[in-house]
Amino acid sequence: MSEIVRAPEGTIVIFVLGGPGSGKGTQCNKIVEDFGFVHLSAGDLLREEQRNPNSKDGDLINSYIKDGQIVPMEITVKLLSKKMRESKSNVFLIDGFPRKLDQAEYFGKNVVEPCLILFLDCDKEVMKQRLLKRGETSGRIDDNIETIEKRFKVFKEESLPVVEHYEKEEKVRKIPCNESVDEVYLKIRPIIEGLNK
Ligand code: ADP
Ligand code: C5P
Ligand code: MG
Repeated sequence: MSEIVRAPEGTIVIFVLGGPGSGKGTQCNKIVEDFGFVHLSAGDLLREEQRNPNSKDGDLINSYIKDGQIVPMEITVKLLSKKMRESKSNVFLIDGFPRKLDQAEYFGKNVVEPCLILFLDCDKEVMKQRLLKRGETSGRIDDNIETIEKRFKVFKEESLPVVEHYEKEEKVRKIPCNESVDEVYLKIRPIIEGLNK
């Protein structure tokens, strides 16, 4: 696998964070439709790597995802860095990363610092219902009630401190996310539009 490379000058990164099922992927798709940024989902990249028969990390990734735990960051950062390097774009929407403080610090130091964090704030019960519904068709090994509960615990204990870290840098825009997809997006769109001003 290729190594981690610092992003060129002028690279813009927006992190989209939020609990499992808060709607990160859904809202990123809408942002891409309107603004054409490159969307990288850390979870999707890990699942793709897990399915790659030539990957030495497949079994390890599978066991972490199945248990709702956070995959060692070197693996995830390498996958993100590779996709960024292969892309012609210089604006990236990265969803589901960083999930842990060490990932945030490592990415900032070795790839690029984000300019904005969209934090999708959703009630736990709403997220749970969305994930159980998604689990009816997703085929994901972690969309079951046992793993969902573990993911909530990891989110609270390990991922929320990342949001607090960026709050101190005044980079976080918090979006309430219990409403419909379109209602949530109505709150996100002006924030993205405001980036160029
Ligand atoms: P995440 O990437 O944060 O885990 P997803 O975007 O995959 O979340 O959304 C989780 C599930 O909830 C999906 O099945 C999606 O279609 C659905 N969903 C996303 N946002 C909303 C919303 N605002 N209202 C209702 N359902 C939603
Ligand atoms: O974001 P998503 O819900 O797709 O993530 C699914 C799983 O992938 C997480 O529960 C975790 O096991 C793994 N993951 C990770 N590190 C990340 C993103 C996802 O370990 N930065
Ligand atoms: Mg997702």
